[in-house]
Amino acid sequence: MIEEKRKALDALDVLMQHHRVVESLFSEFEYLHKNGRDTASVMEAACAEIKIHDAIENDIFYPAVSDAAGEEGIDALLDDAEDSHDSALDLIEELEDADVAARHPQFMLLIAQVKQHIMDEETELFPRVRKLEQLDLASLGSEMKARETELVAEAELAEAGEKSA
Ligand SMILES: [Fe+2]
Repeated sequence: MIEEKRKALDALDVLMQHHRVVESLFSEFEYLHKNGRDTASVMEAACAEIKIHDAIENDIFYPAVSDAAGEEGIDALLDDAEDSHDSALDLIEELEDADVAARHPQFMLLIAQVKQHIMDEETELFPRVRKLEQLDLASLGSEMKARETELVAEAELAEAGEKSA
């Protein structure tokens, strides 16, 4: 019931929700690592979340913001955000190619990188996006949520495929 009454998430809510999920996976990783427990599955889960977040921001959010803003200040922030996505994806690729036991250094770098990205977006980019009157954040949010549902389903299918292979 409460679920039904909740207002739909706008585009920035969707992205901040991703950020919180990734941060909580990072905390879980830090806890497990400190206690000498297995971190492989939490690293995998964080990488999967980051890839979905990347696809939604790059394919839907950044282009919509760039079209609506049409100003250099925001374009520069978008360029920085895209660069930090690219380096996060590079780190994930390296990490996935490494042996499970050798993944920690890349994952620690990934945590630092993604935390910086989250802070930059939430303190600089998002407040400016919120002020763009020409941007319909509500419908953009629905579009992003729909894409997220598809990407999660694709990731689950791929994972099921890997397990049965
Ligand atoms: Fe992002």
